[in-house]
Amino acid sequence: MIVVRKDSPLVIGKGDGENFISSDIPAYLKLTRNFYLLKDNEFAVLTQNDIKFYDNDLNPLQKNITKIDWDATSAEKNGYEDFMLKEIYEQPTAIRETIGNHLIAGQVCQFDELNFSKEFLSSIQKIYIVACGTAMHAGLTAKTMLENICEINTEVDIASEFRYRNPLINKNTLCIFISQSGETADTIAALKLAKSKGATTLAITNVEGSSITREADFVSYTHAGPEIAVASTKAYTSQITLLAILVIYFAEILNKNSETLADLKKSILELPTKAEQLLNHIEDIPEFAKEFYQNKDVFFLGRGLDYNTAAEGSLKLKEISYIHSEAFYSGELKHGPIALIESGTLVISILTVPDLIEKSISNIQEVITRGAKTLVITDKNLEHTNFSKMIKIPETNPFLSPILSIIPLQLFAYSITKQKDLDVDKPRNLAKSVTVE
Ligand code: M6R
Repeated sequence: MIVVRKDSPLVIGKGDGENFISSDIPAYLKLTRNFYLLKDNEFAVLTQNDIKFYDNDLNPLQKNITKIDWDATSAEKNGYEDFMLKEIYEQPTAIRETIGNHLIAGQVCQFDELNFSKEFLSSIQKIYIVACGTAMHAGLTAKTMLENICEINTEVDIASEFRYRNPLINKNTLCIFISQSGETADTIAALKLAKSKGATTLAITNVEGSSITREADFVSYTHAGPEIAVASTKAYTSQITLLAILVIYFAEILNKNSETLADLKKSILELPTKAEQLLNHIEDIPEFAKEFYQNKDVFFLGRGLDYNTAAEGSLKLKEISYIHSEAFYSGELKHGPIALIESGTLVISILTVPDLIEKSISNIQEVITRGAKTLVITDKNLEHTNFSKMIKIPETNPFLSPILSIIPLQLFAYSITKQKDLDVDKPRNLAKSVTVE
C-alpha cells in the first residue's frame, strides 16, 4: 500500500506482522503503541512486515518511531454506556494528570518545554489566543486570567476569523493556539499566519505528534488521555487547568502579586478532589433532564467568567441533542433576547462571579416573571428558592470556577440526548477532528 500525506493527518501504526494507517492514533491503540507520523507530501510504502518512507522527490527518509503512552483501556468504554459519559467522569484524573509536575505545592511553576525568560515575557505587548469551538471557550477564561494577573493585553479569536482578518502581529506578540486534536485546519492555518508575521507561537494540545506540534515554536500538552466522543469534555477542563498554570508561570517570572498566586496554586491542586465531589453529587440531573428533552429552545446566561460556561454549556447541548440553544451575557437580556422567553422556556444561569451575583439574580427574576423555568449553577449559598432547580458546586478560586461549573452542564447535555435516544458520541454532521476548512 502506498500512502501520501497532504494537508489532512496521516498516522502509521507499526504492528507485529501487520501495519496500519489512519487519521488518528486512538483508532488502533488496541493494536499498537508505536507510530510513525508523516509530514505533508511525504510518502510511505507499507507491506505486512515493512514500512519505507520517501520525501516528495521519492528520496528515502529515515523516521523515528513515536511511542504513545495512552493505554488501550482509556480508549475503550470501560463499563460506561458511552464515551462521553466516561470522559465526563474521567475529569478528576485528567485534571490531575494535566497538573502533573507543572505545579507542586510550595514550589514555583515549571514548564521545562518553554523555559521563557523575564526578558522575553516583558517584551510581549499582546497575546492572541486562537482556537475553535470548545477550545476557544477555554481561551476566554485564560484571557481573563492573563489580563488580571499578568496585566498583558489579551485577545481571543476564532481561528477561522483570525486567519482572514489581518491581525496586528509583530515580534512582540505571543500567539497561543489551543486544539485538543492538534489537527484542526483553521487553527493550524492561523498558526502559520502568526508565524509568518513574526509572532512567537505556542500550541496547547492533547495529542502528541499531532500536526500543530510540528508547526509551533513551543508546545505544551494537556494530559487528558484520548478523547473519543465528539463533544469535548475532559479536554476542555484540562485546557483551562493547563492555561491557569501557564498564567501563574508567566506571573511568577514577571514577579506579580504573590498572594493571588498562592491562593490560585492551592486551589488548582484541590481541583481534582472538588471535581470528584461534584460528580458524586449530581446524580439527579438525568431526572431533571426528563422534563426538558422536548423543549425547542434552551438559553444560557452568565456574566464575566460565567458567560464562558454559558457559551460552552450551550455548545454542548446543541451539538449532541440538536436542541436550539444560545448563550447570552445576562446584562444583554433586556437588549433583545428576553423577547424569546415564554412559558416553559428553560433558562440556565451560572452564578459564581463574586460581585455580579445579585445583578444576575435580578436577571433570573425577570425571566421567571415571564414564565421561564430556571436551572441555576452556583458555588454560593443562595437564599432565593424560586428557581426550578439549583445545583451547588464546590467553591474554588473565582478564576477556576469555569472548570467546575461546566461539569453539571456536560451531564445535562448528555442526559437530554440519552432521553432523546440519540447517538451521544457521534452526533450528526460533526467530526471529532475538523481537518478541512
Ligand atoms: O480539536 P480541537 O480542539 O481543535 O477542536 C475544536 C472544535 O472543533 C471542538 O472543540 C468542537 O467545538 C467540539 N465538538 C465541541 O464539543
